Amino acid sequence: METTLIILKPDAVQRCLIGRIISRFEDKGLQVVGAKMMRISQQLAATHYESHKGKKFYDGLVRFMTSQPVVVLAVRGMGAIEISRKMMGATFGSKAEPGTIRGDFGVSNSFNLIHGSDSPESAKRELGLFFGPGEVVEYQRHLDHWIYDMSGKTPE
Ligand code: RTP
Ligand code: MG
Repeated sequence: METTLIILKPDAVQRCLIGRIISRFEDKGLQVVGAKMMRISQQLAATHYESHKGKKFYDGLVRFMTSQPVVVLAVRGMGAIEISRKMMGATFGSKAEPGTIRGDFGVSNSFNLIHGSDSPESAKRELGLFFGPGEVVEYQRHLDHWIYDMSGKTPE
């Protein structure tokens, strides 16, 4: 099982899309194992996006991410990182395919609604930045027997 960090960015919160976006992950069969609303500090935004420091969009990105509250989620499932990235769609709203979150809900390249970790290493690092001890909760979902084929050694 993998867990990924998802951020519903300030535009998603302001546009009242929190519920509809979370529903997409639940509909897919992924499990929400952590959730909270927060205001991202300058320091946290800088650490989270440190790989983009120096790029021309960096200052605007940090300004946007710290401008209003966000909702952070820990989302778990088999292949959750790659599945979530596919569900988000291409980075720019103008390019993202219909059927993806960015493709269906936005047109802007800067206000692109959602962040998702892009690798297992990023997911581990980012979950550690946004969730403290005990804030990601492991729990059994009774419907997992219908989400995954559990008849073998590992869920399929
Ligand atoms: P994210 O990190 O937010 O999940 O997005 P991503 O992986 O799809 O894109 P990434 O390359 O990591 O870029 C991070 C965020 O920076 C903004 N951006 N603007 N104007 C530009 O050329 C540009 N490139 C990236 C976007 O808000 C993107 O989500
Ligand atoms: Mg990224």
